[in-house]
Amino acid sequence: MIELKNIFYSYSANSSENTVALKDINLKINKGEFIGIAGHTGSGKTTVAQILAGLINPSEGEIVVNGESFSDYKSAARALRQKVGIVFQYPEHQLFEETVYRDIAFGPKNKGLNEKEVDECVRKSASLAHLKEELFDKSPFELSGGQKRRVAIAGVLATEPEVLILDEPAAGLDPSGRARLLEELRRIREEGTTVILISHSMEDLAENVDRIILLGNGEKIKDASTSEVFQDVQSLENCSLEIPEITKIIKILNENGMNIPENIFTVEDACDAICKALEVSQ
Ligand SMILES: Nc1ncnc2c1ncn2[C@@H]1O[C@H](COP(=O)(O)OP(=O)(O)OP(=O)(O)O)[C@@H](O)[C@H]1O
Ligand SMILES: [Mg+2]
Repeated sequence: MIELKNIFYSYSANSSENTVALKDINLKINKGEFIGIAGHTGSGKTTVAQILAGLINPSEGEIVVNGESFSDYKSAARALRQKVGIVFQYPEHQLFEETVYRDIAFGPKNKGLNEKEVDECVRKSASLAHLKEELFDKSPFELSGGQKRRVAIAGVLATEPEVLILDEPAAGLDPSGRARLLEELRRIREEGTTVILISHSMEDLAENVDRIILLGNGEKIKDASTSEVFQDVQSLENCSLEIPEITKIIKILNENGMNIPENIFTVEDACDAICKALEVSQ
């Protein structure tokens, strides 16, 4: 559905520093996927996300949307913006209206929906983002970090994007807020939206996404199924990323005499495998 081919991006061409943020990035986003983008700080995750969302234009390379390769970046960005919604790494950067309701209503209003349709859209998006209607009249700026994130998510959902990108959405949330958010993302995905989750947390990615794109120093290091990526410990180490804690625990159990498959990356699968191993040994 979206393809980036040989994409390069430099932040400021006339600075003396090396400002090449992306080098020769090739990737494909297919309809209905739940994709993770991982990489250390400064590896280029946000830059890739902004190119995919049509917010910045590459310095070099080709963008293909629905099979159409665009000759100029301006029209590519327009096509991308129609398709892709992005929740920024710092959600306060995308909140601007006086009330929560008006913030969420901005997108649907701009699309030309009538008042009743806008209202339906705002309530549906708020409910998908688990945002309480009692917050509708508040200023988005007086909310907590978690609530601001929900308003930003609801505002993006209200534009009904085909592809939803979330840049570190769980940062700053407590464990229950984090679990709820990930559950919402799974539901949004089940409703047919393609979801791209940018995260430092290997646990969050292990439990949710089908495919992981690993970035390191502006380059794509690996692009494979979640289980394949977690079995490639070398690539993860090269990117300063770690395998999930539960996988480390299984390794330790095996070193101490248990016999559990080591390709397990979620707590749920680990519980099943440990129970099975215990039954066999009895
Ligand atoms: N506005 C900017 N001006 C100049 N350089 C920038 C700017 N934004 C990012 N960079 C540089 O581009 C590179 C990629 O940054 P990017 O923000 O895409 O990384 P990231 O993987 O999202 O990092 P993080 O995990 O910290 O969010 C880094 O070297 C960063 O310093
Ligand atoms: Mg970032």
